[in-house]
Amino acid sequence: MSKSNFDTRALLKKMTLEEKVGQLIQLNSMFLGETTADITGPKQELGVSDSMLSKIGSTLNFHSFAEVKDIQDRHMSADRLHIPLLFMMDVIHGYKTIYPIPLGMGASFDPELVKECSKMASKEASAGGVHLTFTPMVDYVRDPRWGRVMETCGEDPLLNSIMGAAQVEAFQGDDISNPDNIAACVKHFAAYGGAEAGRDYNTVEISERLLREYYFPAYKACIDAGVVMLMPSFNSLNGVPSIANKWLLQKVLKEEWGFDGIIISDYNAVGELKTHGIAENYKDAALMAFECGCDIDMMSAGYCSSLCRLVEEGKVSEEKLDKAVLKVLELKRALGLFEDPYHGGSAEKEKALCLCPEHRELARKAAEESAVLLKNNGVLPFSKDNKKIALIGPFASTGAIRGSWSCNGLDSECVSVADGVKALLPDAEITVCNGCSAEWNILDRSGFDEAINAAKNADIVILCLGEPQHYSGEGSSRADIVLPGVQNELAKEIIAVNKNTAALLFNGRPLVLTELDETVPAILEMWFPGTEGGAAAANLLFGDANPSGKVTMSFPRSVGQCPIYYNHPSTGRPKTIPDDRHQPYASSYIGCGNLPLYPFGHGLSYSDFVYESLTLDTDKMTSDSEIKVSITVRNNSGRAGKEAVQLYMHDLFASTVRPIQSLIAFKKVEIGAGETVTVDFTITEPMFRFYNASCEFVSEPGKFEVSTGHADNLILTKTFVLE
Ligand code: GLC
Repeated sequence: MSKSNFDTRALLKKMTLEEKVGQLIQLNSMFLGETTADITGPKQELGVSDSMLSKIGSTLNFHSFAEVKDIQDRHMSADRLHIPLLFMMDVIHGYKTIYPIPLGMGASFDPELVKECSKMASKEASAGGVHLTFTPMVDYVRDPRWGRVMETCGEDPLLNSIMGAAQVEAFQGDDISNPDNIAACVKHFAAYGGAEAGRDYNTVEISERLLREYYFPAYKACIDAGVVMLMPSFNSLNGVPSIANKWLLQKVLKEEWGFDGIIISDYNAVGELKTHGIAENYKDAALMAFECGCDIDMMSAGYCSSLCRLVEEGKVSEEKLDKAVLKVLELKRALGLFEDPYHGGSAEKEKALCLCPEHRELARKAAEESAVLLKNNGVLPFSKDNKKIALIGPFASTGAIRGSWSCNGLDSECVSVADGVKALLPDAEITVCNGCSAEWNILDRSGFDEAINAAKNADIVILCLGEPQHYSGEGSSRADIVLPGVQNELAKEIIAVNKNTAALLFNGRPLVLTELDETVPAILEMWFPGTEGGAAAANLLFGDANPSGKVTMSFPRSVGQCPIYYNHPSTGRPKTIPDDRHQPYASSYIGCGNLPLYPFGHGLSYSDFVYESLTLDTDKMTSDSEIKVSITVRNNSGRAGKEAVQLYMHDLFASTVRPIQSLIAFKKVEIGAGETVTVDFTITEPMFRFYNASCEFVSEPGKFEVSTGHADNLILTKTFVLE
């Protein structure tokens, strides 16, 4: 851990009450910098005095090392005890060099790649003066109407857990005082992704059993990986907002899981206890949050206006206050800020690292590995011999492919599809037409004629479609999740004049692609791929890269199927006839199947992977034995490729209904042309534990099946018995 032996207890002893409370307040950098903005109003709203302002402990949302240095120097010279500020930021998928959104990174099924990218982000951010990132966001999701699914790794607890822990390990390293590392904060605890109807900030009512089985594992994995901070969620959970939820923050987080890190509220979440109708005023809100264990109040009037008074009135003990303050001072010590308040950052380092060729190269590789080939009737990969290429659609030449939460990245720094294809094929004749808008309410088709003409005269057409990057992320839920505007109509017109067409998609959530799937012969999902997105797309389209991503969140056929997810129980009346037909008196819809268009784990390759066998070294297991599973996969093509080999389990009979399939392991492997590889897994009894009706975490003897393939297409199934 940290080399600093700065005596934080001695410092605490010197602090006045106001100085202590100040350490528990986080305000936007606009309150601290040489701001031109008039902050009189915001200060009054927060009830923060100038005296308190000079004593706060941390800040967020700033844009460069120069800004950080200016604020830090100004703040430390004004502060009586010269306590350094903590600088925190949302470095979700890159600081300046932006890699794919987490929904894409999860689709890579490659934890090592996630670590590499997180480490790159950590180095850039630290150089830029960031001390802590509000990452990883590991909220479990089942409803693509929610805009923040873009920040998650989808609908599987195991994948979410592995990718969350990978980010914590990469950001924090083994010593956060090392200038390459920054502290991390897991969020949003808990079940923010379970918002009713997929509407952001909406109510969450989920049984304890379901919380523990699906929603909790990834937060716990991040805590076990040593994350230093946790952010409770905005939403009410079973009637009580997380920031004031004693069961959640005291019983589960502290007593059961032993979390002793810092709890920071989400932005004004303490103040919103009034809006929730839980607190009558900011003083009550502050008391509730503090008693629940909220150490730092981010941007609310709660602690600013009332925490001193609560201590003076004896409602908050000075001893409890000291404990919270000491945690903040200890984090500053662990970061080495008392010795170096800039944590090794500098304008020179920031300039040298951000967008450097190596980082761009990694961002491109991540964009290639995250892309998912959803459909391909053989039209891809395109030959580079094609000389006349039409790029058509609202995403053909835009740099707006970073995605939400892309920190200091800029659209102007992104390689567009047009840039990427031109760089790859400098001699080709490339025509670019937008054709239409990507906005939901712009139905103008005046661009169709030019696009159709370009398609008619081209050897191949690349349709570049999707939803604008501000349609996902915070506060960006959609009631319908089709391709916005008239993009489907454009695709139909294009395919009618040129069958050599493939669609690229840029989106921050699973969309309803049923119409597009019926129209075009190939669909390559790019998500929001970041700074090198267009270069990655070009390499994938023309075969310099081979798609290997897999869907981590089901793509519905209709928004009416939501919430939709692969790991669901059977029900007593599952459909037993082909999914496209309605089955009366079975759990099914009239006019729509139950299955998604593209299920969890689905993703095609230019290689032809043949799953030849799945073998078990025994068909009996006890709680202290294990079973070796071997899966052989042959690459029946002349092209090397990567495949995320997945292992699923089905507990056939148990005291509570069990999902018809659960991912229990995966491994992404490279398989050379014509080669066969064997992937080995070891399964043990803890993999089969679940929360029974009394919320006990148990496994039960009985029959189990293991399979490979992907959800909705399980193959090579074998059975074994847990005795
Ligand atoms: C936001 C988000 C949270 C983020 C915080 C600071 O409202 O909910 O994810 O970390 O504010 O930007």
